[in-house]
Amino acid sequence: MGKVSIIGAGNVGGTVAAAVAHFNIASDVVLIDIKEGVAEGKAIDMMQSAQHYQFNSRVKGYTNDYSAVAESDVIVITSGIPRKPGMTREELIGVNAGIVKSVMDNCMKYAPEAYFIIVSNPMDTMTYLAVKNSKLPKNRVFGMGGALDSSRFVYYLREELGCAASDINAMVIGGHGDTTMIPLISKATYKAQPVCELLSKEKQEEIVKATMVGGATLTKYLGTSAWYAPGASVAAMVKSILLDEKKVFPTCTYLEGEYGQNDICIGVPAVIGKGGVEKIIDINLNEEEKALFAASAEAVNKTNNVLREMKLV
Ligand code: LAC
Repeated sequence: MGKVSIIGAGNVGGTVAAAVAHFNIASDVVLIDIKEGVAEGKAIDMMQSAQHYQFNSRVKGYTNDYSAVAESDVIVITSGIPRKPGMTREELIGVNAGIVKSVMDNCMKYAPEAYFIIVSNPMDTMTYLAVKNSKLPKNRVFGMGGALDSSRFVYYLREELGCAASDINAMVIGGHGDTTMIPLISKATYKAQPVCELLSKEKQEEIVKATMVGGATLTKYLGTSAWYAPGASVAAMVKSILLDEKKVFPTCTYLEGEYGQNDICIGVPAVIGKGGVEKIIDINLNEEEKALFAASAEAVNKTNNVLREMKLV
């Protein structure tokens, strides 16, 4: 069984560690934070839940000791500040870019063989920064955003259709931003039936809009960014790697010509297995979706330009 390290023991990082432990898919789960004692405390708290959840993973927390990530199979980076109500994810770039760069450098020192999942926001740009700085092959560094956005899309669809989440198949591609994500309503199905045949045009538009601001809706309630669905989404990707499930997730991955884009990390469907991003799936987009994807990529590129101005890539 493998080893998974999570950098950042905040709400999202802590929930990733707990979800990975509950899946019982890793022998070791390491949690690291800069705040003295937080990772240690959360790890012990999780270990004391093992009897009830029946997992055998050893969860251990450390303050700033990156040597603990040595020999990790997967490293999840959640470090940085989350957004507050009213903020966009893009506004976090000034603070989070420097943090993600130094965290990535530290991890590379001790675990250059790991697969990296980037969660810190603005996620598409932080993934681009991690790919560029680490110089690792693109299958080894990718971002989690689309899996979460898709689970929010499924939530709004199931609320409307009154069914189980497992009856719905739906995907969100593009950037992980309030205006850049693209819920693919044309391809969403309920028990293999297109939802477009079941819902009015107005309902469809309402669900797409709610999905796009799904994260912002939660920051308004919580005063900070969400954690249960983000944690579960990361853990599902980690599981697909460790167990080589080869599940398809909308994944923020480096594109070299796919979907008409180059030198950018953005969400597209990809097979996630023991080789990380094993394959990018080329799905047929209609003309409207193609235009939305091009606009989304342009917006992500603009945010990437801030990294270029900061001389971080
Ligand atoms: C969200 C953050 C994790 O969408 O990006 O909740």
